[in-house]
Amino acid sequence: MSQVFIVGGAGQVGRHLSRRLAQGGHRVLALHRKPDQAAALADLGATPVRGDLTGLTVEALAELMAGSDVVVFSAGAGGKGGPELTDAIDGDGFRLALQAAKLAGVPRFLQVSAFPEAGRGRALNERFENYMRIKKATDVELAASDLDWVILRPGTLTDEPGDGRIRAGLAVPYGNISRDNVAATLAALVDQPGVSRRIIELTDGDQSAEEAMQALIRD
Ligand SMILES: NC(=O)c1ccc[n+]([C@@H]2O[C@H](COP(=O)([O-])OP(=O)(O)OC[C@H]3O[C@@H](n4cnc5c(N)ncnc54)[C@H](OP(=O)(O)O)[C@@H]3O)[C@@H](O)[C@H]2O)c1
Repeated sequence: MSQVFIVGGAGQVGRHLSRRLAQGGHRVLALHRKPDQAAALADLGATPVRGDLTGLTVEALAELMAGSDVVVFSAGAGGKGGPELTDAIDGDGFRLALQAAKLAGVPRFLQVSAFPEAGRGRALNERFENYMRIKKATDVELAASDLDWVILRPGTLTDEPGDGRIRAGLAVPYGNISRDNVAATLAALVDQPGVSRRIIELTDGDQSAEEAMQALIRD
């Protein structure tokens, strides 16, 4: 049983992950910023933890994370607002979480990043370019850290029901993946700490998330 702290716990991936981890017997702390999100998180089996990435200090966030074995970063501005908001959440919010995890002594850090080919073949606006730039910059910072990290790079997220079946590897063809299947992969990474210091590309597929992670360990 692990204690998992989800930054972005009330997000769509965060909620699927809360449910899956709680069902798997883990203790889940779900960071959320709106009071009315707490009851739904508790219903999923998570412990709701109130906090806003733009208002917390590193010390305060570290205190909330204390005792956790894994931090999952799945927060993001989600295309709302301008580039400043993406900088504040996906960029500075990530950095805050990384520093807090180090201060709190949380060993493992799972980052929900983005597939490098996202947006290929269409004209990209400046907001998306900025999002991809920040995702890459934060991946670089995480990979340079001495934490036990994994960077997941899912394709385009969908709301399809998840069947837990994915295609994951160091390089896979671009495609879609349901948010629930991203959560299934994160849950498998919590259960299989042998996958460490890896960047993983991810789409829907035909292998169970658990088997896919085992295969990565064998590689
Ligand atoms: N869309 C795609 O195709 C795609 C592809 C690859 C990767 N991704 C990444 O996947 C991540 C998860 O996706 P998703 O669908 O679960 O996104 P989501 O539903 O928008 O969840 C993001 C969460 O971040 C939270 N957040 C935003 N600002 C915050 C702040 N200041 N303090 C604390 N939390 C804050 C939001 O809180 P509220 O609930 O209060 O708004 C929300 O719960 C995204 O962030 C994105 O970077 C997306």
